[in-house]
Amino acid sequence: MRARIVILISGRGSNMAAILAAGLPLEVAAVISNVPHAGGLELAAAQGIPTAVVDHRQYAERAAFDAALMAAIDRHAPQLVVLAGFMRIFTPQFVAHYQGRLINIHPSLLPAFPGLHTHRQALAAGVRIHGCTVHFVTDQLDHGPIVAQAAVPVLVEDTEALLGARVLRCEHEIYPRALRWWAEGRLASLQDGRIRVRDVPLQGAGSLIVPEGP
Ligand code: GRF
Repeated sequence: MRARIVILISGRGSNMAAILAAGLPLEVAAVISNVPHAGGLELAAAQGIPTAVVDHRQYAERAAFDAALMAAIDRHAPQLVVLAGFMRIFTPQFVAHYQGRLINIHPSLLPAFPGLHTHRQALAAGVRIHGCTVHFVTDQLDHGPIVAQAAVPVLVEDTEALLGARVLRCEHEIYPRALRWWAEGRLASLQDGRIRVRDVPLQGAGSLIVPEGP
């Protein structure tokens, strides 16, 4: 039987779309948004995937929202909950409930630049290399065992938008890949909290030097 996932979104859902387009050996049981008219919802519905909205503004307290969200998710009994641009911070209870079953993509090379406006943070810091990270979620914001990362150069003429678009293209590559490894049972947690991906040939081991030149 194929593993079931539920995807959580808050916006346009381009990562969700990349996951759906990848033909992964898993079932997307539902897409759930905290924002009623999130663009990604329509996209998912058009592909015949059940969608639901749990609007955080209807809940006075974070704990009540999280409880309602958990109920909406657990209705589909997923083995993995996939955060794809889901812009809410969870209670420790929520994170504990999905321990080891909650995965996220963050648009920076963690542990650098947690939080919001990561491309702005990267430009302000003057880093030459930026990127994105797929990681399992822990109690600490934008932190947790790393599954995959992709790096891009930061160019002198970059704006937040240009850099963001370059990183987003990488997000669309590594998130489906990480989920495929998960679905194939190839992610192993090491005792020290790191993750090993089984049976991946050593590749991409060259260096990215920015700026390049003699
Ligand atoms: C992505 O950059 C994701 O890493 C971040 O929010 C953005 C969501 O984009 N957390 P989309 O909704 O997947 O297009």
